[in-house]
Amino acid sequence: LNATLTIDPAFRVAPVNRRTFGSFVEHMGRCVYTGIFEPDHPTADEDGFRKDVLELTRELGVSLVRYPGGNFVSGYRWEDGVGPVDQRPRRLDPAWHSIETNEFGLGEFARWARKAGVEPMMAVNLGTRGVQEAIDLLEYANHPGGTRWSRLRHEHGSPEPYGIALWCLGNELDGPWQIGHKTAREYGRLAAETARAMRMIDGDLELVACGSSGSGMPTFGSWEAEVLDEAFDLVDHISCHAYYQEFDGDLSSFLASAVDMDRFIAAVTATADHVAAKRGSRKRIGVSFDEWNVWYQSRHRETGNPTDWEVAPRIIEDEYNVADAVVVGNLLISLLRNTDRVAVACQAQLANVIAPIRSEPGGDAWRQTTFHPFALTSRLASGEVLQVRNSSPSVRTARFGEVDVVDAVATHDDDAGTLTLFVVNRSTEDDLRVTVDLRGLAAHEVAEAWTVHDADVRATNTEQQPDRVTPHPTADVQLTAGTLAATLPAVSWTAIRLT
Ligand code: AHR
Repeated sequence: LNATLTIDPAFRVAPVNRRTFGSFVEHMGRCVYTGIFEPDHPTADEDGFRKDVLELTRELGVSLVRYPGGNFVSGYRWEDGVGPVDQRPRRLDPAWHSIETNEFGLGEFARWARKAGVEPMMAVNLGTRGVQEAIDLLEYANHPGGTRWSRLRHEHGSPEPYGIALWCLGNELDGPWQIGHKTAREYGRLAAETARAMRMIDGDLELVACGSSGSGMPTFGSWEAEVLDEAFDLVDHISCHAYYQEFDGDLSSFLASAVDMDRFIAAVTATADHVAAKRGSRKRIGVSFDEWNVWYQSRHRETGNPTDWEVAPRIIEDEYNVADAVVVGNLLISLLRNTDRVAVACQAQLANVIAPIRSEPGGDAWRQTTFHPFALTSRLASGEVLQVRNSSPSVRTARFGEVDVVDAVATHDDDAGTLTLFVVNRSTEDDLRVTVDLRGLAAHEVAEAWTVHDADVRATNTEQQPDRVTPHPTADVQLTAGTLAATLPAVSWTAIRLT
């Protein structure tokens, strides 16, 4: 197969937004406990943070981390997680049928985030709680001192405010599984009033209203419209959540998951712009794609919550294969392509729970296959995002109709003199020869080129074989007179940096 791509400086979307490379740490399963935090682990530092997982987090290139949930936050009392650890209560976590020990809370998260070099993104509980608890938390986290909650933070050993700028107003409250599930009107009112009060304390906060927990929700579209009818003036962003998986061996549809992500973003921004139009407003609501990933949810539904009120049980520890990594790389291509509207994106989650980083209690930490396209995209995307004109064969998929076999995006950094192409071959059978017209963009040599691919698309990384799947130098890539050519194997993701 052959495909022709065109990259032109005129195809500019917007500057690369570092917040595209966010992740998510929820009190769920082993993401916190024995994931990022394990005081007894041989690599634990003075705060109980696993240094091996911290190092992998930095290598992954994560820019921001959302915390503490997820479904967990909708039943969470943040006060349980601050102050002397031996006085913190053990609680039932109804969301994940687990015991929450509260050994890790806001102060630990803020310290961990500083060590990891990531921006914290905090969620407030709008499931069982409301305006008062949200502004108490904000006062504890961000107010310099001299008040009840800020003084308490001082007493707890953190005189410096945490300075958290980005806040989620609850989580997935459209979902009937959510503790404190609400109608769009109920939630929209609560989100608006919580936002109003939070802004009275700090007018510079960035606030995210809950959108739909998936584009397949029966209320999708009307939920966003009704919530924004109530909260438009008081919020900056609306959330999107999307998880993809291969159903019944339909690899072609699975490989085209990014088509769905593009459509999802288009539908949500159109809905937000419709609300803006009704109000005669030029304000543009951003998308906070604060949960996205591959997740074999059907397996999870079959097995249910395998836990009987355990501490840090093993929940949804999906083991990712090569096809999953190609899809993750393609979802990042979609997020970059939509960078003019995607203000924040968080891959869910960071460690153990549907995560790029796996760790065993007392044992090793390793990179899943999905780690690699994320780390490379985060490292190589810089400057301006450029759309790529695509003239490639198409393939029929059962779920998404006719889709391009190739999908690509580029970034161009004038100052650094780099042009980087991110590209996938979604064909399940054929290698693909791509020819890229660079339209006068200066490029002298191929500085680096990496491909994630394996003859066995089901190959995974495990504790025993942690580097079974890694990126390899792209086998066949040439740059001649303004044209880049490369051969992309079937089911592969590639990044090529030109200088
Ligand atoms: O990331 C796992 C769960 O998926 C989150 O807790 C929830 O928000 C979503 O349904």
